[in-house]
Amino acid sequence: SLEYSLRPQTLQQYIGQDKVKENLEVFIQAAKMRQETLDHVLLYGPPGLGKTTLAAIIANEMGVQLRTTSGPAIERPGDLAAILSSLEPGDVLFIDEIHRLHRSIEEVLYPAMEDYCLDIVIGKGPSSRSVRLDLPPFTLVGATTRVGLLTAPLRDRFGVLSRLEYYNEEQLTEICMRTAQILDIGLEMDAAIEISRRARGTPRIANRLLRRVRDFAQVLGKTTINAFLAKEALDRLQVDRLGLDHIDHKLLMGIIEKFRGGPVGVDTIAATIGEESHTIEDVYEPYLLQIGFLQRTPRGRVVTDLVYRHFNMEVPKE
Ligand code: ADE
Repeated sequence: SLEYSLRPQTLQQYIGQDKVKENLEVFIQAAKMRQETLDHVLLYGPPGLGKTTLAAIIANEMGVQLRTTSGPAIERPGDLAAILSSLEPGDVLFIDEIHRLHRSIEEVLYPAMEDYCLDIVIGKGPSSRSVRLDLPPFTLVGATTRVGLLTAPLRDRFGVLSRLEYYNEEQLTEICMRTAQILDIGLEMDAAIEISRRARGTPRIANRLLRRVRDFAQVLGKTTINAFLAKEALDRLQVDRLGLDHIDHKLLMGIIEKFRGGPVGVDTIAATIGEESHTIEDVYEPYLLQIGFLQRTPRGRVVTDLVYRHFNMEVPKE
């Protein structure tokens, strides 16, 4: 698909996350020199920053197959056992949203990660016994938006822990220019910068905005996107100067109007604006915290003065 071809295939093509990338380069090279599988890797950070892309790149750079699944997709221990026993030597198994794995399933992972084996219980009751099945060596790449929700024994079994950070404007601009080339649309630098400013530090959002702006260009019969066109299109998409959309607005204005700026608990905010708590925590909050619009306190979330200024509202006195 297009989404897939936009993804960089090698670390060399991957823009940003320099620390993560430089370290992975070393670990991959070392594993290849020793002709070993790469140690298990945990990638964590907000959504859209390239965890899935990196998993695919790791498999590609190691010259092995990628198998993909996710925490919620694995319903029973047997599902995981089936996946593990069908791996080929060296394969990368990518488990997205790994914090959503059941405890009973995690327990299948421990011996698999540590000793490349499965402990299978045969029969029931007093005559049951446990058999060990050998697995091929493999690399588990886990991804999560919520590293704090991982159990300690699972977290401790990863040899490499990498936190992905929000991208800066320059990196996002470079990503937009690369994507425009792949999509075969002209993109002026100023236009790429405008899109990047409104992409919330997130390549997935930058690429999505670029595709939408390209739709406007297409319909207007233009083969190149300039800054004027980008601004017009982005305004029509209701993405504001800082990249906040109508859900961010609803969230922030909800706290201001209904809770006098907070503190208020996430569940309460969720109920008032009709979004799920974990969507707010995983998708919306991280960026608002990052740009200093929200603060976490023991009694709940509080909006900062920056929010009142952003909305041209009077900042309330203490
Ligand atoms: N497309 C999406 N994310 C990217 C990245 N980090 N580098 C290059 N292209 C990308």
